[in-house]
Amino acid sequence: MKNMQIVIDGPAGAGKSTISKIVANTLGFIYIDTGAMYRAVGLKALLLNLDTKNDVASVERLMDDIKIKIEHKTDGQHIFLDGKDVTSEIRTPKVSIAASNVSAFPAVRKKLASLQRELAQSGNIIMDGRDIGSYVLPNAQIKIFLTASIEDRAKRRHNELIEKGENVSFEDVLADMAYRDKNDSGRKLAPLKIPEGALVIDTTGNTLEQSIDILTDAIKERLNCFLK
Ligand code: DC
Repeated sequence: MKNMQIVIDGPAGAGKSTISKIVANTLGFIYIDTGAMYRAVGLKALLLNLDTKNDVASVERLMDDIKIKIEHKTDGQHIFLDGKDVTSEIRTPKVSIAASNVSAFPAVRKKLASLQRELAQSGNIIMDGRDIGSYVLPNAQIKIFLTASIEDRAKRRHNELIEKGENVSFEDVLADMAYRDKNDSGRKLAPLKIPEGALVIDTTGNTLEQSIDILTDAIKERLNCFLK
């Protein structure tokens, strides 16, 4: 098996990254989290005090010389912004919103999509995001669209943030999620949508273990078809 591409798209909080990471480990695939790249751009814009919703020109200009690098370490994917490891720094609610905002800008999407296509050449990969099956890697062998109700997704994200010691209310997380859903699905270029040929898996009401099992089984079944 060489250059096998499994793509997992879906809205925020559906469990894409947690589940993809575990399934990638089980299969011996490289896991690539593309949301981290949009988060790195969002973080850079915030550090420069740019208006991430409206200042298209300034954010797009950042793409001329921004350096985004992905490295795979024993504890998973690390992301470097202009040489600095920002893996933890990008996981805040503020950066989530900024990432969603800047992801609507064409120059941002163009640069990151080309970086993602390059990364996809590094071997057997599982790549997750919003537009991977529909735009970045439309010829991927296996496409999954992972979703769940907005309440379930907000509940999971809220628990994660509380565990990390962030002081946020469930209502704020729910509102952020609704904002990002609307932004990510409503943008003109490569919006969040179910890619053609994707298997849709709804994880509403599942435990994490149940979702992992469902996804692993679905992927193994499809991989077997390719190996026959
Ligand atoms: O997956 P995430 O929550 O870390 O992604 C953060 C934001 O980045 C998300 O709200 C939209 C954007 N994104 C995107 O537009 N396309 C992708 N392939 C991945 C993320």
